[in-house]
Amino acid sequence: MVSRRKFLAGGAALGAAGAAIYATPLAKNLFLPPKANYVLTAQQSQWDFGGHINKPAQVFTYQKDQPVPLIRMQQGQPFYARLKNHMLEPTTIHWHGIRLPNAMDGVPYLTQEPVYPTESFDYQFTPKDAGTYFYHSHFNSLAQLSQGLAGMIIIDEVKKPDFDHDIPLNLRDWRINENGKYQNFLEPITAAKAGTFGQLKTANWQVAPNHIVKPNSLVRLRILVSDVTRIFKLIVKDSSNPEAKAKIIAIDGNPIDDIRDMGREWIGPGMRMDIAILTPDEGQTIELVNTSTNKPWVVASLTSQGQSQKRVWQDLKPLPQNPIEPLDLQGAEIKKFEFSASSGEQEDLGINCAASDYIFWAINKTAIGHLDPNSSSLRPAANLKLGKTYIFEFTNITPQTHPIHLHGFFFRVLSSTKRKIAPHWADTSLIRPKETVRVAFNADTLGNWLMHCHILEHQKTGMTGYINVS
Ligand code: C2O
Ligand code: CU
Repeated sequence: MVSRRKFLAGGAALGAAGAAIYATPLAKNLFLPPKANYVLTAQQSQWDFGGHINKPAQVFTYQKDQPVPLIRMQQGQPFYARLKNHMLEPTTIHWHGIRLPNAMDGVPYLTQEPVYPTESFDYQFTPKDAGTYFYHSHFNSLAQLSQGLAGMIIIDEVKKPDFDHDIPLNLRDWRINENGKYQNFLEPITAAKAGTFGQLKTANWQVAPNHIVKPNSLVRLRILVSDVTRIFKLIVKDSSNPEAKAKIIAIDGNPIDDIRDMGREWIGPGMRMDIAILTPDEGQTIELVNTSTNKPWVVASLTSQGQSQKRVWQDLKPLPQNPIEPLDLQGAEIKKFEFSASSGEQEDLGINCAASDYIFWAINKTAIGHLDPNSSSLRPAANLKLGKTYIFEFTNITPQTHPIHLHGFFFRVLSSTKRKIAPHWADTSLIRPKETVRVAFNADTLGNWLMHCHILEHQKTGMTGYINVS
């Protein structure tokens, strides 16, 4: 066991660069958890994609030669995880979508020092909300997620809902060829457009996995898009019944107000969707299909086998709501954010640019590629007052769709200038070309919170900013 003294000494040895430019002090490990729920050892490892490539691929994961583990937490119960870095580069973990103290948010230079090779970092928080979430590296994110460091989190409700099966699906591509060689993670030509797509398409690191389920049972299927680029357009197909038997029950971890039938659903990087499925009779299969490209493909499937559970749709009950404080929309202040392309020549637009090899994008004409602590452009995109409600107006003036993610809060997606939106809580929202989307949230937690496009080539080439709540 690592002693407290040794642990603090390790923390103190971390580089102090950058700490001074932020108002809030960076997180340090000041305690030792009584017992870690998870020890996550970031490491280079191997994974066999089962004949889809010629030899096991080199990946990054948190357990030797295994996919990134599913993490399970309990709503309202303290959670402890120790991140150990056995890689040759720094790393951190961001708990995407989870409302937690800023110091635990895992953003290097903004909320904590990077965790250097051989170092470790303890994350501790108590999740207030239940649902489906996501954890991933936030250091050199494009490369570290592209090689594996992204996994699912299930936070169990205090009172468990009544499903026969609970199946998590982590959807992502790998930019890897048949010989196990990675393509460049950043391709300037595509980074300036929709981003670069991978060739090997997986769910839970497997190609089109099939799950055996009981006939006529209720399944909770938890979908996460952890891909760094692809925006999926998902449908559910039932081999015995053209009317797909699927209903949407939650978005980004939060139960929606009115359960609705699933149609063709857009779901982008960083986003989650929980759907309920009533499985077909013995021997029949249900497929989850991506239809975002001209060649649709089966992402995963469920095949009914065994004893019928005799379920009917009336058995599906709404999930319990998460404890989110109501919004004060009347008194809300509006803040506008424009997502644009940068010209590439910063002077032209007066774009204020932090160090990065390429800059293609900007938020309110400020382009931050990575959170370089020496950069002068690192200042908040907005300063918010603790306890106030804000309306953020996201305007996309680019020809691409951007999944915009705000750390640390759930925002209520209120409306769009282009389409009808059923208001719902989310932490990531797709903003279409020429669209303005209004979201509202309570600035109820102190700190510096990142806000960025979750297409990671966009994040890395300028579409990053942060807000300060004080
Ligand atoms: Cu999942 Cu800063 O992101
Ligand atoms: Cu984007």
